[in-house]
Amino acid sequence: MRRLRQLLMIAGVLGLAGGALAADDDISWAFPRTAPGGPPGARATDVPLSVPGSTQHFSTVQLRNRFEVSDWFPASHPAAPAAVLHGHPPGTMACGFCHLPDGEGRPENAPLAGLPAAYIQRQVRDIASGARLPLDPSWGPTTGMQQVARAATPAEVAQAAAYFSKLKYRSLVRVVEAAHPPGTVPDASIYRLTGAAASPEKTPRIIEAADDFARFEQRDASAGYVAYVPVGAIARGKLLATTGGHGTTQRCSTCHGGNLQGGLGPPLAGRSPSYLFRQLYAFRSGARHGAGGAPMKPVVARLATADMVDLAAYAGSLKP
Ligand code: HEC
Ligand code: HEC
Repeated sequence: MRRLRQLLMIAGVLGLAGGALAADDDISWAFPRTAPGGPPGARATDVPLSVPGSTQHFSTVQLRNRFEVSDWFPASHPAAPAAVLHGHPPGTMACGFCHLPDGEGRPENAPLAGLPAAYIQRQVRDIASGARLPLDPSWGPTTGMQQVARAATPAEVAQAAAYFSKLKYRSLVRVVEAAHPPGTVPDASIYRLTGAAASPEKTPRIIEAADDFARFEQRDASAGYVAYVPVGAIARGKLLATTGGHGTTQRCSTCHGGNLQGGLGPPLAGRSPSYLFRQLYAFRSGARHGAGGAPMKPVVARLATADMVDLAAYAGSLKP
């Protein structure tokens, strides 16, 4: 008995035991926002802008219109239904404003391209009903989605779901392990590289930085980003995902498919690690408690926050 307690203690120190890490559980890094006193957002103007590879021109006034999507690459996807490109006030913002017209999504929301239509509709219903709550109710992106989910009609959601489910998802994220990621500041729901040297990180974390912040801000659907994760995270995540670590979790591939490309559960491969992390955390905290997520409950019950970082890093590093 004493030996077992000792083993458990060692496991705990090594971060192998499950459950929440009370003291280390600062996950504010997962909700980047422009810090108070941070750089003021540039004033919107009518000056036409462009992005590489597109013949379109949009101004920042147009780019910030949540009800009329500025589509840089209209030829990169089939004709999109009204709900995707044109919203209507007050609450029905166009899906494509946040998730981009080709459903690629951005790290602060989610890619919708290639998700099953029934899954998309169920998630919107769960978000509207409160069965899937914003993990941090003060973070704009998720409260924005809640507003849309409550305002959009079932017909609009069905049209959008049918459209997004037919698209192929291409991952825009590179997952990079770094003990000391380069200097960044949170800005506009992602991190901006500052060019400054990094300070050592204390907690396991995922820092997602736009390769080219200006293009990212112009909602260029081909602008990539990098996810800095702790050293060793991908291998640790793989071990957990493929062996069902701790002897309590089930193998992720049982439900999410080989290489996590989708099965009974949605595809996880190549998706934003910070998005995946927020979802795992939300299943564990109960913020995401819809009936469809019941199979996830026992999976996350014994996962430590650091395990979730590792799993998200591994899944994000896979090819979709
Ligand atoms: C204001 C920005 C915004 C708009 C507009 C928006 N969404 Fe979202 N959406 C989000 C965010 C942020 C999330 C991530 C929620 C979370 O982290 O739980 C999300 C998540 C989702 C998900 C869950 C994806 C998954 O993998 O589980 C679906 C489905 C979805 N949105 C569908 C839609 C549809 C359909 C529309 C248009 C009717 C729409 N969204 C419009 C921001 C938005
Ligand atoms: C028993 C089946 C099962 C197992 C095992 C399982 N999942 Fe899931 N997972 C699901 C289902 C079903 C959903 C969709 C939940 C819903 O509809 O809300 C889901 C959803 C998710 C999501 C949210 C995806 C999104 O688009 O929002 C993540 C992240 C996730 N699982 C990660 C994992 C990881 C990591 C593992 C292994 C540690 C795992 N799952 C093991 C069934 C499973």
